Amino acid sequence: MIDLNGKVAIVTGSARGLGKGIALKLAELNAHVVVSDLNEEGTSSTAQEINDSGKSAEPFVANVAESASAKRLVEETVQKHGKLDIVVNNAGINKDSMLHKMEESAWQQVIDVNLTGVYNVMQPASIQMREQQAGRIINISSASWLGNVGQANYSAAKAGVVGLTKTASRELGKKNVTVNAICPGFIETDMTRAVPENVWDLMVSKISMGRAGKPEDVANCIAFLSSDQAEYITGEVINVGGGMVL
Ligand SMILES: NC(=O)c1ccc[n+]([C@@H]2O[C@H](COP(=O)([O-])OP(=O)(O)OC[C@H]3O[C@@H](n4cnc5c(N)ncnc54)[C@H](O)[C@@H]3O)[C@@H](O)[C@H]2O)c1
Repeated sequence: MIDLNGKVAIVTGSARGLGKGIALKLAELNAHVVVSDLNEEGTSSTAQEINDSGKSAEPFVANVAESASAKRLVEETVQKHGKLDIVVNNAGINKDSMLHKMEESAWQQVIDVNLTGVYNVMQPASIQMREQQAGRIINISSASWLGNVGQANYSAAKAGVVGLTKTASRELGKKNVTVNAICPGFIETDMTRAVPENVWDLMVSKISMGRAGKPEDVANCIAFLSSDQAEYITGEVINVGGGMVL
């Protein structure tokens, strides 16, 4: 049984979707969760839901695409709790279009949130985790990092997250900090509900398990990577996609 009692975790993008599922799971396993998102209302309601269930959370509104905001998230968490055990970099957006039609703004916004946003949180978190000689960083990449039609910006950012994860795992390994990436396949959230029905059916047809994933499917893997049992796993890129082949 995984017990994260006494651990302090930040989950970015946890107002809804996958991030919310991850925050609920880590709290269920007794971690104190800093529920962070751009969306103020969703941030408060996820934290409230956790506290109402007798577990422990606090809301923190932050924009990971702004380095000062991400730095504040990490530094104020450390100031308040004296440490930072787990960081889940989950905040992300998509602005899909074919490359020949892709506006520069769609490219830049996706890189800013999905790649630079991960750096913005990891950089100050790595300072703290090196110092305390312990920590877990789990970055949410995507099955799309290997390439997916209509997602040049998103795939590039998610591939960048893999490179960032692997490099940080090498730099931080001797400091007892593990850094891993998870590649969700096709998970049922507001992001994926936005696709047309025929695209939904096409995506599900590529999944061996024959169904879209649930946020809990990804959250369970994150719970394991956050646990003592996973202390010797680092620099890995783990697919959680029900056997999806894009
Ligand atoms: N749903 C899937 O099938 C799937 C598959 C692979 C990867 N992912 C990745 O999982 C993560 C979560 O996806 P989701 O499906 O839950 O999406 P979602 O759109 O439902 O939720 C994303 C959350 O991130 C927040 N966010 C966006 N920009 C932010 C910023 N700049 N700073 C802070 N928070 C911000 C949003 O407010 C939202 O609450 C993303 O990184 C996404 O790329 C999702």
